[in-house]
Amino acid sequence: MKILLAGGAGYIGSHTAVELAQKGHEIIIVDNYSNSSKKVIDRIEKIISRPLEVFEADIKDKESMQPIMKETKPDCIIHLAGLKAVGESIENPVEYYRNNIDTTLTLLECMKESSVKRIVFSSSATVYGEENPIPYVETMKKGNCSNPYGWTKYMMEQILEDAACADKELSVVILRYFNPIGAHISGEIGEDPQGVPNNLMPYIAQTAVGRREHLTIFGNDYPTKDGTCRRDYIHVMDLANGHLKAVEYAENNKGFDVFNLGTGEPYSVLEMINAFEKASGVKIKYEFGNRRAGDLPEYWADSKKAQEILGWKAVRTIEDMCRDTWNWQKNNPVGYA
Ligand code: NAD
Ligand code: WQD
Repeated sequence: MKILLAGGAGYIGSHTAVELAQKGHEIIIVDNYSNSSKKVIDRIEKIISRPLEVFEADIKDKESMQPIMKETKPDCIIHLAGLKAVGESIENPVEYYRNNIDTTLTLLECMKESSVKRIVFSSSATVYGEENPIPYVETMKKGNCSNPYGWTKYMMEQILEDAACADKELSVVILRYFNPIGAHISGEIGEDPQGVPNNLMPYIAQTAVGRREHLTIFGNDYPTKDGTCRRDYIHVMDLANGHLKAVEYAENNKGFDVFNLGTGEPYSVLEMINAFEKASGVKIKYEFGNRRAGDLPEYWADSKKAQEILGWKAVRTIEDMCRDTWNWQKNNPVGYA
């Protein structure tokens, strides 16, 4: 199948490109590198041992996207392009709504004009908001998001659902990721956030490699077993495999569907530090700080639906996630720079 990865140079897109290419699919990457490096492309090509078709473009710009879609005629789009920093979305909400919603609208318009009928969308556990019981199940009510980033995902899911309702030939698969971490086993590609990392795993990895002095744990007075928050961390290559299954599902099923992609097994911040120390042999300096606004004590996925319908299950352990993160970080102490 010919698959266009919108935002394919990013963290999840690059790993998904490898997974799909190694399963024989033809990959097209479109990215404006607003949150990624062009060097990613060489690394992916090195892993898969063949060249990729790559376009540098702003996906919200229809003038740029239309000719790409017409020229490449993909069978399926995977829409990963978006801004994703929660704190930044609170400071610059308009930029987040503009970029995230417009990329989606432009892709849908270009799909219609080029008769592309399948789209897989990167959504997030964040759409479950703040009031649902755990574990999260796809049938639960969405909304009550704590930040504009979360609302963009909520709105984009609605836009995609309406599009599928209007065009019965369309296949829309929504993937709600939990907490993706880890890296490709080769150590060639991995997570390389710009500036100070917002997320736990890259912060731990950069502390281990000496780029950060110490980690601050955001709160140790939560009602959890060790007082720190618990999350459902999932290996990025398991997530990449989820995209493969979603693309195959979209080929054979029309309509709108939603799947959680998580392991169903939460780990606390202290457990993550411990697991990383074991995998790397490096002691992580940390101190306890205040809670971070908007953080929930704990949540994890019920991913039975993905298992039953997509035939997908996360198979990599927390040890694999920490080992592969460390392998990437120690081989690339300053990321792709
Ligand atoms: P990322 O920032 O590494 O990748 C996103 C890519 O999209 C980047 O390469 C960026 O340059 C590109 N991009 C953004 N706006 C663009 C535009 N207008 N035109 C062209 N390219 C554009 O992020 P990621 O972690 O790989 O996440 C991929 C998707 O998954 C995002 O939509 C994100 O919201 C979603 N998601 C991520 C996580 C996570 O924790 N990483 C969790 C849930 C959902
Ligand atoms: C994990 C835990 C922090 C950094 C975010 C988004 C979510 C989704 C995934 C996109 C929390 C703690 C973190 C640090 C810490 N992204 N922590 N010190 O917040 O669960 O989810 O990424 O859709 O929408 O909100 O992930 O990695 O930021 O935090 O103590 O320096 O680590 O408090 O408990 P989070 P995270």
